[in-house]
Amino acid sequence: MKTATVCGKWKLPIFFDSTNEDNVSRSERSYIHYAVKHPELVSAKCWATEWLFSGTLPLGNYSAVEYLAGVGVQSIILKNTISLTKHLVLERDENCVKHLINAGFDTRVADARKLMSSETEFDIKLADFPSSSIVSVDTKWRGFKDLFTDNTKLIVWTDTAISYPLGVHGKRYGAKFGIDQVRTKEEYIELYSKWISKEFGFAIKKAAIRGKNAIYFAAVPHSSSLTVKEFPVTDTKGFSVDD
Ligand SMILES: C[S@@+](CC[C@H](N)C(=O)[O-])C[C@H]1O[C@@H](n2cnc3c(N)ncnc32)[C@H](O)[C@@H]1O
Repeated sequence: MKTATVCGKWKLPIFFDSTNEDNVSRSERSYIHYAVKHPELVSAKCWATEWLFSGTLPLGNYSAVEYLAGVGVQSIILKNTISLTKHLVLERDENCVKHLINAGFDTRVADARKLMSSETEFDIKLADFPSSSIVSVDTKWRGFKDLFTDNTKLIVWTDTAISYPLGVHGKRYGAKFGIDQVRTKEEYIELYSKWISKEFGFAIKKAAIRGKNAIYFAAVPHSSSLTVKEFPVTDTKGFSVDD
């Protein structure tokens, strides 16, 4: 068994062998394969996630659900940063699910595309999409809109629009936001925040930019100022796996 050290302090036992997946097509590989091959990206994600969860909610006890739990990197950060009364972990990949159960999480095999619209009674909801943008929350991930219920206190989700130059899809994003074209990531974040406010009455409180690939958003159900922070991809101090 290997062990991952997350944010330099939390231990996550790893109960499967990623090398078994070398011959599996990229789209079918589990998240552990990605994590082992790209620890520097996961490291930046870990620091970003710790920042998103820390001090964002008032002190208290909360229930949480994760719809795309992967290998549980965000799960272990959540568990250690927020006091949880219930923590339900959902994932489609069966190997990930076996690993998550062995690692001690209350886990079920589930398709996020269905469950995002039904498992909604939780205070905290995490949707760590493998890829998504303002366009896909209306198409592939349309259940995302059902997360914004009256009882919700925090939604954290992943947006990968910046992984392509905004010259490529900026006009499509602009059309969603009612402008000609989105030209910069700062503009994308600002417009997304206004859209969340207009559509759901929620506010994006924090946006963590992970290198050139992803933005992690944290939204709360009341008005809030927006803080944007960059998490450059530099080293593996936030995520390392040893034997
Ligand atoms: C970015 S990874 C999640 C990483 C995870 N949050 C962690 O910290 O380890 C995305 C995950 O979504 C899962 N996934 C993709 N489509 C899914 C779906 N429709 N339902 C549930 N899980 C899905 C993949 O198997 C993958 O593990």
